[in-house]
Formats: sequence, C-alpha cells, structure tokens
Amino acid sequence: MANIFPKWVNKMPLRIVVALVVISSVVTGLVTYYATPKYTRVGYAPIQPVPFSHAIHVDQLGLDCRYCHTYVDRSGHSNIPTAATCMNCHTQIGKEKPDLEPVRRCYESGEPIPWIRIHQLPDYVYFNHSAHVNRGISCLHCHGEINKMDVVAHAKPLSMSFCLDCHREPYKHIRPVDKVYDLEWSYPDTLTQITEGKKLVESWQVHPPQGCSCCHR
Ligand code: HEC
Ligand code: HEC
Ligand code: HEC
Ligand code: HEC
Ligand code: HEC
Repeated sequence: MANIFPKWVNKMPLRIVVALVVISSVVTGLVTYYATPKYTRVGYAPIQPVPFSHAIHVDQLGLDCRYCHTYVDRSGHSNIPTAATCMNCHTQIGKEKPDLEPVRRCYESGEPIPWIRIHQLPDYVYFNHSAHVNRGISCLHCHGEINKMDVVAHAKPLSMSFCLDCHREPYKHIRPVDKVYDLEWSYPDTLTQITEGKKLVESWQVHPPQGCSCCHR
C-alpha cells in the first residue's frame, strides 16, 4: 500500500515548533514596544540635589501639601517650593547640616534648587491640577503614597488609559474636597466609595471630558 502522507509530513512537528517560536517572539516584541512606555516610568526615582523627604515633612511633621505646592488648587500647574519656603524652618533647624547646603546656597543666590522633575506628560497632552483637586480627586490617586516616601518615585502610569478609566467612572475615585490632601483617608470600603461617589458626582455635576480635543489641544 502506498504512503497516504507525503514524506514532508515527517518534518511537520519541527516546522510547527519553529513557527510557534517565531510567532511568540514577534508577539513579545510588539507587546514590549507598544505596551511598555506607560509602565517603564513607574518606579522612576532620580537622586535629588537635596535628600528631601516627604515622609519626614508630611507624615511626621504633618505639613499640608499646599504649604509647599501652593498653587496646586489654584492653577493648572503644581509648583515646587523655592528655597525660601524651606528656610522658614531651616534657618533654625539643621543649620549646620551639610545636606541642606544647596538650600542655603540657593536661598542666598535666589536661584532655584535644581530638582529633577519626575512626573511629566508629553507636550501634546493638556493637564490641569486645580480642575482635579477642587473636584475631589486626591493626589493619592495619581501620585501614590507620597506622604510615606523618603524619595519621590513615579507611582502610577499616568497613561491615556489611566486618565480615561477615571474619566469614564469618576465615582470610583472621587471624595469630599476636604479629604483630597489627606492621603491616609479613604471610604471604609469599595461599596461606600461607589454609593457616596455617585452622590458626589450627581450633586457636583461632575462630567470629566472624554473627547480627544479636551486633552489634546
Ligand atoms: C515641605 C515642603 C513640601 C510638602 C509639605 C510637600 N511637598 Fe511635595 N515636593 C516638595 C519638594 C521640595 C519636591 C521636589 C523634590 C522631590 O521630588 O522630592 C516635591 C515633589 C513632589 C512631587 C513630585 C514632583 C515631580 O517632579 O514630578 C509630588 C507628586 C509631590 N511633591 C506631591 C506632594 C503631595 C501629594 C504632598 C502632600 C501630601 C506634598 N507633596 C507635600 C516639597 C513638599
Ligand atoms: C515646617 C518646617 C519645615 C519646612 C518648611 C521644611 N523643613 Fe526640612 N525639616 C524640618 C524638620 C523639623 C526636620 C527634621 C530635623 C531632624 O530630625 O533632624 C527636617 C529635616 C530635613 C532634612 C533632613 C536633614 C538631615 O540631614 O537630617 C532635609 C534635607 C530637609 N528637611 C530639607 C528641606 C527642604 C528642601 C525643604 C523645602 C522644600 C524643607 N526641608 C522644608 C522642618 C521643615
Ligand atoms: C488626576 C491626576 C493628578 C492629581 C489628582 C494630582 N496630580 Fe500632580 N501631576 C499629575 C500629572 C499628570 C503631572 C505631570 C503634569 C505635566 O507634565 O504637566 C503632575 C505633576 C505634579 C507635580 C510636578 C510639577 C512640576 O512642574 O514639577 C507636582 C509637584 C504635583 N503634581 C503635585 C500634586 C499634588 C500636591 C496633588 C494633590 C494636591 C496632585 N499633584 C494631584 C497628575 C495629578
Ligand atoms: C481619578 C480620576 C481622574 C483621573 C485619574 C484623571 N482625571 Fe481628569 N478629570 C477628572 C474629574 C473629576 C474632572 C472634572 C470634571 C468636571 O469638573 O466636570 C476632570 C477634568 C479634566 C479635564 C478638564 C479640565 C478643564 O480645565 O476643563 C482635563 C483636560 C483632564 N481632566 C485631563 C486629564 C488627564 C490628561 C489625565 C491623566 C494624566 C486625567 N485627567 C486623569 C477625573 C480624573
Ligand atoms: C483624559 C485625557 C485624554 C483623552 C480624553 C484622550 N487622550 Fe490621548 N493621551 C492622553 C495621555 C495622558 C497620553 C500620553 C500617554 C503617555 O504618555 O503614555 C495620550 C496619548 C495619545 C496618543 C499617543 C500615542 C500613545 O499611546 O502614546 C494618541 C495617538 C492619542 N492619545 C490619541 C487620542 C485620541 C484619538 C483620543 C480621542 C478618542 C484621545 N487621545 C483622548 C490623554 C487623553
């Protein structure tokens, strides 16, 4: 009886294996290329010119974010404090500490402390802090537990899908405006967040934009 299968069929399993290897490496490549940019910045924590700790100043000393980031609820841009703000206390506290030398130098010369910027959207994205914090969106949601950080690290992806997830369902994240700066605070459980969140969205008429031109102007 003649062979039913031609001879090349013997090599089929090998070819299938080779094809699978090729396909899977292409898929890995595509995923890496397209999906990682939004994740690679998570964890970015450059070494700053002064070892400033939010854990000491916020968690231990109890300073409000707005003591230093004075414009966060008043303008689109959240400022970094000048050396003068630091010197409110550090003319007295830690006067001789070498870590504070750049602060003293900048205070005298009037130059800004050369902090390395951590969170930065691409130029083609428009963002506004006050529009968020005055609508009950906490720093916590976009920056993580800054109050516990000795060194600020980029905690959240701040990618387009990250923004849109909340713009579609703001009730999952919204909170009373006076709790925006309290990073320890949360509703006791998810169900309360949802029921209370829906009430806030309703009574404040919160409608985060989803149209492309709102964020890409
Ligand atoms: C005593 C002043 C002070 C207070 C209070 C303070 N910050 Fe900061 N913050 C700074 C300084 C200085 C920097 C820049 C150095 C650094 O990144 O650590 C900074 C950096 C940041 C950054 C990163 C900025 C970037 O480059 O992307 C975020 C986000 C931030 N602060 C959020 C907060 C939040 C949220 C609070 C309140 C819970 C807060 N800060 C309270 C002084 C302060
Ligand atoms: C409200 C007062 C206050 C303000 C404003 C303030 N600090 Fe401090 N800072 C303190 C206190 C208190 C400590 C703790 C001192 C200690 O434990 O030795 C401290 C500690 C530090 C330390 C650690 C010093 C060391 O070597 O132990 C650094 C660095 C520092 N602050 C930088 C800054 C910078 C930069 C700013 C401005 C962005 C700033 N501080 C604003 C009160 C303040
Ligand atoms: C809805 C998300 C969101 C919330 C809420 C939010 N931020 Fe931001 N923050 C961002 C984004 C996005 C950037 C980068 C902005 C850019 O590139 O223009 C940023 C940047 C910053 C910076 C760096 C600005 C600079 O020029 O170096 C500071 C400081 C900051 N935020 C502080 C805060 C504080 C304090 C709060 C709470 C009171 C807060 N943010 C709430 C998303 C948010
Ligand atoms: C946790 C929820 C949340 C996240 C995350 C968030 N937003 Fe928003 N956004 C809101 C809310 C709430 C409003 C206010 C809507 C209103 O007032 O009706 C808003 C408003 C806006 C507006 C309109 C502001 C204006 O000045 O008209 C823009 C633009 C915007 N967001 C961009 C962004 C971008 C870009 C990101 C991501 C980096 C982002 N948002 C992340 C909740 C969020
Ligand atoms: C709530 C704000 C918001 C809205 C609405 C929005 N975008 Fe974006 N978009 C962003 C942010 C933030 C980024 C930057 C992402 C990053 O840096 O990872 C981005 C990036 C992009 C990019 C660059 C490619 C990429 O993924 O990095 C394109 C293209 C884009 N958006 C198209 C659109 C289109 C089309 C719409 C309307 C359907 C839209 N966007 C609506 C916030 C928004």
